[in-house]
Amino acid sequence: MLSKVDNETICRVGRGTPMGDLMREYWVPFALSTELTPDCDPVRILVLGQRFLAIRTTSGTPMLMDEECPHRGASMWYGRNEGEGIRCVYHGWKFDGGGRCVDMPNEPPGSNFKDKVRLSTYPVSEAGGLLWAYLGPRATPPPMPGFEWMGENDDSTAWAFQRECNWLQALEGDIDTSHFGFLHVGHAEPDDAPEDSFLRYTIEDRAPRYKVLDTEFGATYGAYRPAGGDDRLYWRFAHFLFPFYTMVPTGVLGTKLQIRAWVPMDDSHTMAFHSAPGARRYTAPASQKVGITEREATATEFLPNTTDWLGRFRIAARRENDHLIDRALQRSGESYTGLAGVNVEDQAITESMGDIYDRTKEHLGSSDVMVIRVRRRLLAAARALADAATTPPAVDAPEAYRQRSGGIVLPADADWMEATAELRSAGVDHPELDPSLAGGA
Ligand code: FES
Ligand SMILES: [Fe+2]
Repeated sequence: MLSKVDNETICRVGRGTPMGDLMREYWVPFALSTELTPDCDPVRILVLGQRFLAIRTTSGTPMLMDEECPHRGASMWYGRNEGEGIRCVYHGWKFDGGGRCVDMPNEPPGSNFKDKVRLSTYPVSEAGGLLWAYLGPRATPPPMPGFEWMGENDDSTAWAFQRECNWLQALEGDIDTSHFGFLHVGHAEPDDAPEDSFLRYTIEDRAPRYKVLDTEFGATYGAYRPAGGDDRLYWRFAHFLFPFYTMVPTGVLGTKLQIRAWVPMDDSHTMAFHSAPGARRYTAPASQKVGITEREATATEFLPNTTDWLGRFRIAARRENDHLIDRALQRSGESYTGLAGVNVEDQAITESMGDIYDRTKEHLGSSDVMVIRVRRRLLAAARALADAATTPPAVDAPEAYRQRSGGIVLPADADWMEATAELRSAGVDHPELDPSLAGGA
């Protein structure tokens, strides 16, 4: 449970709020690289409750700017992406990538007024298939977080989807491991899963125990349960990384590389950016998706993007259509939820909690230990920044982000952190590990 004040503090992200200021200390992913092509139309970008526009110039440089023209406030969205800058169509003022006014054709020749006017623009980086902005107060931005595949920057590394709810309840779904045994596989019996697979252990014991640890980058948990006997344990490792990243515990630790960034668009809309080598396969049209049912492919199909602030990356299953629940399927026992697959299940449940869940009403149990820890760290960091200007965790430590998550079977007496140090580190290949061990968990 959180007090009313703490819930407001942790959820609200506009400019000048404690959490909004905390997030602005870090680089923030705001679009897929593929959303901006050279000479493209301006794209409306809503992030941390602020309205921006993004373009890519003729030479390929991405540019992020304030929406309003500094002359008389016309929206630059109607502007012209021209060469290496953008021109407002109201009176023709043109601004370059650094926000300098380079042409002011409605002022007399010889006027130096244009040297006094600037459009606010923001530092932009491109890595891991994503476009990142620094919206914070430093004159020189901090280093980018050092996720291990950041150097891979083709369009195969990222995809995005929107959630219609506050960023924290979306993120908390990724660090709440015990829901997996219910929401996603509540209908399954042990024999439905491959022998000696993570999925089988999950179904055999749906109430894991937990260890949680504060780390330099945020927090780590290990959820453990018997692995088909008393002498071995199946551990699920996952991370929260400041300020809004998760590495989830599915798959096999040491073989899996992925992050999810739960980036607030505003207080009640969140863009999830998923970055991992090969991630693009998820964005294929429904007809080309493999490994999922036709129903799931249809429910996760993207609606056509619109030019609206909230018009990007919405999937077909949404609140207005009850996330396309199939009650007959739910009753049949084939599915616990009647919803079309893991992504839709997570989306339906987190959105069902409302725009901003009122955490004064909740009742947290021992399975919520990671959720509690992450909230504590976020609130402490936001308050330390607000009260004492303390630099938040890992802002200046890019190497702290070189982590991996996933599942592993360990001897029952092994130390969970010591035994997995190498498997959790980036940059070490583990060809000896078989990714199919997970069996889907
Ligand atoms: S309002 Fe943009 S040039 Fe006048
Ligand atoms: Fe889930």
